[in-house]
Amino acid sequence: MRVVSGIQPTGNLHLGNYLGAIKQWVAMQDQCECLFFLADLHALTQPVVPAELAASTIEMAAALLAAGIDPKRSILFNQARVPAHSELAWILGGTARMGWLNRMTQWKDKAGKNREGASVGLFTYPVLQAADVLLYKASHVPVGEDQKQHLELARDIATKFNTDYGVELFPLPEPFVSKSAPRIMSLRDGGAKMSKSDPSDMSRINLIDSDELIAQKFRKAKTDAEPLPDSFDALEGRAEARNLVTIFSALADRTPQSVVEEFAGKGFGAFKPALADLAVATLAPIRDQLARMHNERAYVAQALADGAERARILAAPTLLAAKQAVGLQV
Ligand code: TYM
Repeated sequence: MRVVSGIQPTGNLHLGNYLGAIKQWVAMQDQCECLFFLADLHALTQPVVPAELAASTIEMAAALLAAGIDPKRSILFNQARVPAHSELAWILGGTARMGWLNRMTQWKDKAGKNREGASVGLFTYPVLQAADVLLYKASHVPVGEDQKQHLELARDIATKFNTDYGVELFPLPEPFVSKSAPRIMSLRDGGAKMSKSDPSDMSRINLIDSDELIAQKFRKAKTDAEPLPDSFDALEGRAEARNLVTIFSALADRTPQSVVEEFAGKGFGAFKPALADLAVATLAPIRDQLARMHNERAYVAQALADGAERARILAAPTLLAAKQAVGLQV
């Protein structure tokens, strides 16, 4: 088993990232060979402030280390430092079809009505993502549900490449979506996912939020007037309530059913403080560890440099084989 996954180094880590992806990354380090990277090349598909991109790449790497990614066990690096990602993406650009990319919901959402004005990179974004995982012949890719479509595309690209060139180069990567927290929703709108691009900071819990702010955000989270039922299925149609129960169960490593049973008949006045306490118990140690790492930027930069060197070694044979398959002289 080889595990590969990435995160864009923009904004702060939030609870959706943590429960949907990072918690799985940390757990998988014990069982598999893991590569985790900051997708700084992907960040270029939207407008960036250069100094901020550089700083937030280090900041996000520090946050991953604080959350439990161990640079000795896992290979942690930033994508731009391993040129094979860009090279393979270009090669796979010859295999991916316009029609496939046109169907990507993230492209449709992010480009909106202004497709003509969107960057070419935003359109070909999933091809680079396919290169990210195929380069290392990843078997499992732990991601939130929103990234599943991109991984299905990576499988399509791998299949077509293998068939077109008569090779068995790329195994098909398996998306590994968290069962307990596939899609954490906004605290203000149960129909929108929790996201770093939401203009309202009250919509998300950031890993750097203070204990008071976490409690305040849950207190103000949108809910309804009904008490909690005694079965999780009965929360159908109550998106905000369902989301809070999901967050509780993912944080506590309990089933959502056991959570509703505990709070059945009680209102959110009782549930929200318990949820806030649970979130603080998980997030405060990560936040405090991150704060301690503020003076250790050199350590973080060195961890990324070491990780990139190890990633380059693993990437080289696959890139060479891909070049040979398509007839590039190498
Ligand atoms: P990104 O940076 O948007 O998010 C990082 C990870 O967090 C997950 N996630 C969520 N999970 C549950 N609920 C949410 N509300 C939520 N918000 C975010 C994402 O699914 C993701 O797993 N394109 C990717 C980065 C990437 C990548 C890759 C991932 C680039 N190359 C190769 C896997 C493999 C992205 O923008 O994730």
